[in-house]
Amino acid sequence: MAEAKQGPSWQAESIPTGVPNLDRLIDGGLTRGSLVLLAGGPGAGKTVLAGQMAFHWAAQGRKVLWVVTLGEPNEKFMTHLSAMRFFDRRMVGDTVQIINLSRYLEQGRQAQLSVIRETVQGGDYAFVIIDGFQSQRSFLGDPRDVRLFLSELGSELALMGITMLLTVDASPLRNWESAEFTVVDVIIALERGEAEGRERRLLRVLKQRGRAAIGGHHTFTISSNGIHVHPRVEAVARAAEAPASTTRHSFGLAGLDQMLAGGLLEGSATLLAGSAGTGKSLLAGQFLAEGLRQGQPGLYLAFFESLNRLLQRAGEFDMPLRQGLESGLLHVKLYPSGRCDPDACAEEAMRLIAEHRIRRLVLDGLEPIERELATSGRIIDYLAAVVEYLRAQGVTSLLTYELSEPVGTTLNLGRPLLSQVTGNVIFLRFARTDTRRHRLLSVLKTRYSDHSDAIAELLVSQGRLEVVTDPAAVQQQKPDLVPVAFQGEPQGGHYY
Ligand SMILES: Nc1ncnc2c1ncn2[C@@H]1O[C@H](COP(=O)(O)OP(=O)(O)OP(=O)(O)O)[C@@H](O)[C@H]1O
Ligand SMILES: [Mg+2]
Repeated sequence: MAEAKQGPSWQAESIPTGVPNLDRLIDGGLTRGSLVLLAGGPGAGKTVLAGQMAFHWAAQGRKVLWVVTLGEPNEKFMTHLSAMRFFDRRMVGDTVQIINLSRYLEQGRQAQLSVIRETVQGGDYAFVIIDGFQSQRSFLGDPRDVRLFLSELGSELALMGITMLLTVDASPLRNWESAEFTVVDVIIALERGEAEGRERRLLRVLKQRGRAAIGGHHTFTISSNGIHVHPRVEAVARAAEAPASTTRHSFGLAGLDQMLAGGLLEGSATLLAGSAGTGKSLLAGQFLAEGLRQGQPGLYLAFFESLNRLLQRAGEFDMPLRQGLESGLLHVKLYPSGRCDPDACAEEAMRLIAEHRIRRLVLDGLEPIERELATSGRIIDYLAAVVEYLRAQGVTSLLTYELSEPVGTTLNLGRPLLSQVTGNVIFLRFARTDTRRHRLLSVLKTRYSDHSDAIAELLVSQGRLEVVTDPAAVQQQKPDLVPVAFQGEPQGGHYY
């Protein structure tokens, strides 16, 4: 029996696009010789995306033929992309060649095909990019003509190992039946979406023949660096299995560390929940500060916070955050507007964790992230992926969460799953006596670890934090405490 015919050796070659994170969504890159469509409305970023790839490839010495379709002078392409950092004027006319099809548009399919064919045969091209295919298609006649143009050109180029990129002003959902969408091997759609009243750029890989694409919407940004994709964390985060650690990370507060049997287990995530003013940020800062004292690199992420305010308060409580920053042990990422793209934020945090071998992480305020993810309902999947990643990296984390419940009512996080995702929950609340207001601290649960059921008091005064654990003394002082049930607790809740 004859051996199966081997295709050209380049057939399986995968070509990275050079667009940050895009290759993660398309299984490493584009298959050499494939026909790729970039679709989206006006200003969606199609030309920027195609140009970014073109200059990335050109910088590697691979020749790109850029086809301009309408009566646009070549300069327009130059002006359009020249503000971008990836643009390199020296490559234009060299590794990036530009041809203008406008003179041949009226002459029909064959004329258009032969211009491209002849140009390609005269040079050693690896890529052909047609920007603005919608203007060309209007000269091609009926859909059959469009289909023939694309399949003829596509297969000729494929035989030569040339990868072809088309940008088209069209909505993949509305124009699904149109020729270019059915003929091509890969469709990348650039869309606009909304989150909390703000516009978001979204990218979706709608089709990728022969490769496993990561579907669904991913946000992306355009800056002078070009396009940067922020994949959905839960779609791309891969956490390696890490051995369970028995190391504990203390707060440096004797009472609390005692309640936690020495501290938080390494790699665990803790939800620090409580109403406004109960001391969540102070405790979180203390956790990082204690890590710094022990020489552990820390990462502090916070919203609605300025660096000055943060450092000033830390100074008042003798927390060496400023020293940590100066020595490079502490890394701080603040979002003063309270606005972030959760995937971009996670990506940044993961980069910092890897770069600086972060051991302790504080996210002061889960609510802004929850708000951003409200419309897509992704909060639990998102958090689970982040927590899993942190666990695998051995990063011990503390996430604060503000509760709006008035003092003395049932503790209901409103999102019972949140506490399941984090595993550990520390709860802070106010209680009043005749003489003053007390901050009560209890450890509601710790996964894989023992903890004390004591109700402690968090004392915050004159630059000092202290956790007093003598339950008898606390209860004696507070006869007015009402029962608090914690939803999701297996034994029906803690009462105190
Ligand atoms: N330096 C920059 N910083 C941020 N955004 C930028 C920058 N330069 C361009 N943009 C944005 O990029 C988009 C332009 O993208 P591009 O021209 O690639 O769109 P397009 O999909 O090709 O549009 P058309 O269909 O009109 O050709 C605009 O929305 C513009 O706001
Ligand atoms: Mg364009």
